[in-house]
Amino acid sequence: MYSTTVTRAATALLLTANTMVSALDLDITSVESIKNTAATIAYDMMLEYKGNVSGGYIGVLPGPPPNPPTGYYWWESGAMWGSLIDYWHYTNDTSYNDVTSAGIQAQVGEDIDMMPSNWSQSMGNDDQAFWGMTAMLAAEYNFPAPADPKAPSWLSLAQAVFNTQAVRPDKECGGGLRWQVFPYLTGYDYKNSIANGCFFNIGARLARYTNNDTYAQHAETTWNWITNVGLMDAEYNVYDGAHIGHNCTDINKVQFSYNSAVWLLGAANMYNYTNGSAIWEERTNRLLNRTLQVFFPEPQRVAYEVACESTLKCTTDMFSFKSYLTRWLASTIKMAPYTHDTIMSYLKPSAVAAAQQCIGGANGRTCGLSWNSGKWDGTFGVGQQMAAMSSVFVTLADLVPVAAPFTNATGGTSQGNPNAGSGSHHDTSLIKPATGSDRAGAGVVTALILIGATGMFGWMSI
Ligand SMILES: *[C@@H]1O[C@H](CO)[C@@H](O)[C@H](O)[C@H]1NC(C)=O
Ligand SMILES: *[C@@H]1O[C@H](CO)[C@@H](O)[C@H](O)[C@H]1NC(C)=O
Ligand SMILES: *[C@@H]1O[C@H](CO)[C@@H](O)[C@H](O)[C@H]1NC(C)=O
Ligand SMILES: *[C@@H]1O[C@H](CO)[C@@H](O)[C@H](O)[C@H]1NC(C)=O
Ligand SMILES: *[C@@H]1O[C@H](CO)[C@@H](O)[C@H](O)[C@H]1NC(C)=O
Ligand SMILES: *[C@@H]1O[C@H](CO)[C@@H](O)[C@H](O)[C@H]1NC(C)=O
Ligand SMILES: *[C@@H]1O[C@H](CO)[C@@H](O)[C@H](O)[C@H]1NC(C)=O
Ligand SMILES: *[C@@H]1O[C@H](CO)[C@@H](O)[C@H](O)[C@H]1NC(C)=O
Ligand SMILES: *[C@@H]1O[C@H](CO)[C@@H](O)[C@H](O)[C@H]1NC(C)=O
Repeated sequence: MYSTTVTRAATALLLTANTMVSALDLDITSVESIKNTAATIAYDMMLEYKGNVSGGYIGVLPGPPPNPPTGYYWWESGAMWGSLIDYWHYTNDTSYNDVTSAGIQAQVGEDIDMMPSNWSQSMGNDDQAFWGMTAMLAAEYNFPAPADPKAPSWLSLAQAVFNTQAVRPDKECGGGLRWQVFPYLTGYDYKNSIANGCFFNIGARLARYTNNDTYAQHAETTWNWITNVGLMDAEYNVYDGAHIGHNCTDINKVQFSYNSAVWLLGAANMYNYTNGSAIWEERTNRLLNRTLQVFFPEPQRVAYEVACESTLKCTTDMFSFKSYLTRWLASTIKMAPYTHDTIMSYLKPSAVAAAQQCIGGANGRTCGLSWNSGKWDGTFGVGQQMAAMSSVFVTLADLVPVAAPFTNATGGTSQGNPNAGSGSHHDTSLIKPATGSDRAGAGVVTALILIGATGMFGWMSI
């Protein structure tokens, strides 16, 4: 499978080299140009994946733990497989399907709930849920089912994540999920938008896929909680999180694009599930409006990670957020087709700008974060590649037929298990407490909290 991958990508590179002046000369009116550009960026991204190499973990990018703390947290690998499922869905390029399928299956964990004990020193609800959203996407797109008939279905993996999380909200701050799963982890006292937004997103999508209203009721409860506690305000700003020691009144008002986007796509799925209800239409509209205002400055309309892009003081995690922003905006169009013209008028200039700055590094085509700068900003990594790739391939939706996510009633073939995850028994007493360095690395936004939410990012409020 790898040789196929290399051959196809190499073909793309040759085409690019022969016919283009700059490294990635994207023409968003040309299907071939978009496909070649996305293929090239994907190929470079996958050079970072060492799951096949001795010492690597199948399904996991190099990173902590147990490797030195220079790489990627476990959640980002799950996110990357999701971006490659979208890549396949938009481009029809199957080059990465096998490695994606194997990667997800290798990380389902002992209890088949996307929580392998190997990563329990950094297991946030958001980390687990990013793998859950990837499994959900595989179900929605009829991504080829695992060859092993005994392997869990994609849908059941998403249900397992949902079911294990549905019992975790507690009374602190009036409800909601904590950020971290286990009490010994730094951040267990933090309730945040991404953990709850992922749960909301999966619930809304499961409701739509299965037409089981129980999922929608959990999504409603989660929406009510986040608006009540103020992590989403009346202007539809989505703030990062708050601590239970303050009954969640110490809101950290930094805004990240993936927080807004995960809620937006969930709301759009609720809109679709409810057959276009007025309440979810208004919520979708207002979230969309605010997301575009905050993260796509006029007049360029190019995606911008407002919390950290101007200084490039982004963590490894943050460099990837624009991948979810662009993909989830594109998916919002499918759920609420009337948003098409608005959303595409932001995604298209973003794609052009993203490709234009992929001119860095030794290969002359490495992507950075600063899409609007017209030049490479010197940063590189899986996050930057994933984000640029995503922004490019979503523009195919205006040139070729791209199927909307299926449901069980419209051709989705993944058969679920409403009780998935019931075998989950993570006995925290058996898990050794995290060491100092592990704790320092836990989860998605720990670095942000450690450097002081009110220090570096506290001044940010849009
Ligand atoms: C992918 O395949 C579908 C179905 O054959 C086709 O309609 C579509 O144009 C293809 N997309 C691309 C990007 O080639
Ligand atoms: C890498 O992993 C994929 C997926 O498991 C497998 O299909 C492929 O053969 C492996 N390649 C090598 C070189 O081991
Ligand atoms: C956990 O890591 C070990 C290597 O330390 C590996 O052999 C094992 O397959 C991993 N288990 C899971 C569920 O990832
Ligand atoms: C704590 O916060 C929740 C959610 O905002 C609120 O409903 C509750 O009244 C607060 N409790 C106290 C004691 O202030
Ligand atoms: C939406 O409409 C379909 C088809 O009429 C129906 O089966 C479904 O129950 C409706 N969903 C809701 C949430 O009302
Ligand atoms: C729900 O999504 C489907 C698939 O994209 C779309 O055809 C339908 O119009 C959407 N429903 C509403 C109410 O927009
Ligand atoms: C957002 O809402 C404001 C106020 O209603 C409106 O002026 C603006 O055009 C909207 N922006 C988008 C992108 O919909
Ligand atoms: C999904 O659809 C299949 C057949 O199309 C049906 O057998 C099954 O009961 C459906 N599942 C749910 C949860 O509705
Ligand atoms: C709907 O989902 C809930 C929550 O997982 C589950 O308990 C219930 O059995 C499901 N209902 C059906 C008909 O599958």
